Amino acid sequence: MEDKKKIILSGIQPTGVITLGNYIGAVKNWKQMQEQFDCIYFIADLHALTVKREPQEFRQTALGFFAQYLAMGLDPEKSILYFQSHVHQHAELQWILNCNTYVGETARMTQFKDKSQKHADNINMGLMDYPVLMAADILLFQTDLVPVGIDQKQHLELARDIAIRFNNRYGETFTVPDAYIPNLGAKINSLQDPTSKMSKSDPDPNAYVSVIDDEATIIKKFKRAVTDSGNEICVREDKPGISNLITIYAAIEDKSVSEVESEFSSCSGYGAFKLAVGEAVAAKFRPIREDYQRYVKDKGYLEQVAKSGAERAAYLAEKTLRKVKKRVGLISF
Ligand code: TRP
Repeated sequence: MEDKKKIILSGIQPTGVITLGNYIGAVKNWKQMQEQFDCIYFIADLHALTVKREPQEFRQTALGFFAQYLAMGLDPEKSILYFQSHVHQHAELQWILNCNTYVGETARMTQFKDKSQKHADNINMGLMDYPVLMAADILLFQTDLVPVGIDQKQHLELARDIAIRFNNRYGETFTVPDAYIPNLGAKINSLQDPTSKMSKSDPDPNAYVSVIDDEATIIKKFKRAVTDSGNEICVREDKPGISNLITIYAAIEDKSVSEVESEFSSCSGYGAFKLAVGEAVAAKFRPIREDYQRYVKDKGYLEQVAKSGAERAAYLAEKTLRKVKKRVGLISF
């Protein structure tokens, strides 16, 4: 890697499935960024432990996510791809950052409050410490830019606060990261409730499309997508369902919204439009699904990619961690 390029870092928790929303809102852009930046993409498996998981299923999901990263075009020749839990420096830096973060700062995070309500029987320490681990993920690599959705913005703000505070207290140590909002990073909503975000853990599987759903399933889900009254195909505030479908089609076909609107201006109705969107998505995901099926069967290859990714990540992470330990006064011989 050349050192002049900016460093980009992001991760996804291996829970549920990677959806069309994750693809359009995140991974499609991650793929493009590989050409321009030094990118680090990991599977945030430690973060996922903040909610109770069935170990066997969790392991399968995490490995499947890694295979999907590769199938979606994240390239181990261009980027560093690995599992967070394979690089112990994440958890180690988290401890030192914990000692420089106030309980009040994490307790007021919106996601912590939401998750505490949702998992009232399991408000564990990890749930509250989640954003400090995320700060460690980011600061460990002297990350310049973090592509995040709106729901993670508050966590990124905290990471910045922690970095600035640490730098002031101990001297310049961390790059202060900025949010990176890619211009194409459209937000995709649920197919069943188009006023809320498409979630990868929605209990209703008709609400989302997975990047590895087969063609018939994808088309069926689009046919069932909730639409609005009327029959005009255009983006408008009172048409959340059709607007969402237009956004999806535009992102998948790399077209602008107005191009899509005029393409379908004489369309015979919502049914035909929903089918066209379903077919476009199914065609886009076919090679991803096929590559995924190849990768997921090849454990040896996945292991080799993950190991070499973790080694490269650990090398960079250790540089920062060594500096941090020295700054705070830990002895090194
Ligand atoms: N918290 C993020 C999410 O759920 C995942 C994540 C973990 C992450 N560590 C990160 C994202 C560091 C960006 C940078 O979406």
